[in-house]
Amino acid sequence: PRIEHIRNFCIIAHIDHGKSTLADRLLEFTHTISEREMQEQVLDDMELEREKGITIKSHAIQMEYEFGGKTYTLNLIDTPGHVDFSYEVSRALAACEGALLLVDATQGIQAQTISNLYLALDHDLEIIPVINKIDMEGAMIDEVKEQIIDLIGCYEEDILLASARTGAGVEQILKAIVQRIPPPEGDPDAPLQALIFDSMYNSFRGVVAYYRVFNGTLRKGDKVKFVNTGREYDADEVGILRLRLEPRDQITAGNVGYIITGIKSASEVRVGDTITLVNNPCQEAIKGFEEVKPMVFAGIFPVNTEDYEELRECMEKLKLNDAALTFEPETSQALGFGFRCGFLGMLHMEIVQERLEREFHQSVITTVPNVSFIAYTTKGEKIIVNNPSEMPDPGRLSRVEEPFIRAQIITKPEYIGNIMTLCLGKRGTLINQHYLTPTRVELIFEMPLTEIVFDFYDKLKSQTRGYASFDYHPIGYRESDIVKMDILLNGDKVDALSALIHRSRAQEFGRKLCEKLKELLPRQQFQIAIQAAIGSKIIARENISALRKDVTAKCYGGDVSRKRKLLEKQKEGKKRMRQIGSVEVPQEAFLAVLKIN
Ligand code: GTP
Repeated sequence: PRIEHIRNFCIIAHIDHGKSTLADRLLEFTHTISEREMQEQVLDDMELEREKGITIKSHAIQMEYEFGGKTYTLNLIDTPGHVDFSYEVSRALAACEGALLLVDATQGIQAQTISNLYLALDHDLEIIPVINKIDMEGAMIDEVKEQIIDLIGCYEEDILLASARTGAGVEQILKAIVQRIPPPEGDPDAPLQALIFDSMYNSFRGVVAYYRVFNGTLRKGDKVKFVNTGREYDADEVGILRLRLEPRDQITAGNVGYIITGIKSASEVRVGDTITLVNNPCQEAIKGFEEVKPMVFAGIFPVNTEDYEELRECMEKLKLNDAALTFEPETSQALGFGFRCGFLGMLHMEIVQERLEREFHQSVITTVPNVSFIAYTTKGEKIIVNNPSEMPDPGRLSRVEEPFIRAQIITKPEYIGNIMTLCLGKRGTLINQHYLTPTRVELIFEMPLTEIVFDFYDKLKSQTRGYASFDYHPIGYRESDIVKMDILLNGDKVDALSALIHRSRAQEFGRKLCEKLKELLPRQQFQIAIQAAIGSKIIARENISALRKDVTAKCYGGDVSRKRKLLEKQKEGKKRMRQIGSVEVPQEAFLAVLKIN
């Protein structure tokens, strides 16, 4: 297509406001897919994604639309909707010239939409506001119009009305995309410069990278170079993205496409990297490349120790299509051989755990997650601590630094009080408070990352009835009073339950963890002391009294085969137990930390 006939756009919407349904209608209206091919929500094709209601991996799809006697090429680039994946969102936006701001007529603007809207404005995207679900009983069209005008300062007549369910207004949306979103700029004859905004793993063909060409032309058979990784490949296949991959001879400036080079590991294809030609390279890479770094670390161990090798194979396969996942072998006295893994955030960690279980049928134990600390020893050594066991002993330790973030929260004024209480309680400092509109306020805090990793997002949602957006960026390390807290069972340390925690939190955390373990550990034939300690100092303690449990008692002595069955069952149960010194610990006890409120 000629560059002036290309339009690149994305859809910014709060969860459930109808992004997937609208995407379906656009594809249908432009005959990109037939009714027969239409399954509900074609863009969310991972089962997991559908259940979680978020788009985990972004995709792109191309449509053709006839308007005013010309054929336009429209590239819809999908964006993920969770802070764990905010870098991917920023790259997807960087590939677009415009965005549909989709708002549910019955809900109005939800704060979550706002931070992505601001990101879009930062990238100078043309915003087309669309009020969706106008077919619904409770549609508040005028009110929502006012909110939108307040927020982006547009004219009332700029706002489109639509129903992604009935298809009303869909044609107007397509027209607006053509008329209002500027065509891309770029020179098809300049040296190649293409931005990778996403990739996908295909077990037969390897990694498929999705890119937007800013300048130049990418042809099948070209020798290409990925600027930031410095690696070179052959462009075995290039093409456009429809419902399936459609090979083409070339992809020119302004357009969106895919490339297959036989790369087998997702970690070679970095979102944000620039593709250029080996023989005629561009002068510079596209700005904004960042190495995505894991923010949260936890151990993953097989439930049955003999499954370690199998787990390792699964982790390696998983890593092939999840470039953000890192792992290395770890040994725990309590859990045996396993892996210390790095994740983008808690959601990413959950996804990895679920994929291991569902796709790879592994039963795993995940240990207490922690952020990455920096410890300095008295000898001036610097140690990166991703695991409590790596923390130097108090005698050798000079100081510890922990990662801080800048948090942006957008909410309604009536929730300011709740949010202040929540954030100050999480060791946050208020940096700025500012009204975006009379009914919308932005709060900026600096907070330790570790405080938001666990349950911050859930708490924020419940404190604001879901009416708060949250976004964060790392701002570096600061000195902090971090201690290592150990759990002892009858005097034996359980390494898998150790945690790195701020001193001011240790006492309460230790007490709650001991209480929780008391609930989770079965009584045994002797007393069990559960203790929390910092170094040699005990800060909390619970006891579980002894019990002589006669499992066969309810069999009334008589029936031998029933008795045997019961004993076998008990043995089976023991497999899932881990022996710590004299104490048997069930698998779920290792998850106790996550169950503390
Ligand atoms: P996530 O994938 O969770 O981000 O949601 P989404 O924004 O993609 O929303 P989705 O398209 O899944 O729509 C959410 C719900 O609203 C679905 O049950 C849709 O059927 C319904 N829905 C979407 N658009 C309309 C509409 O115009 N009218 C009505 N009545 N329902 C709609």
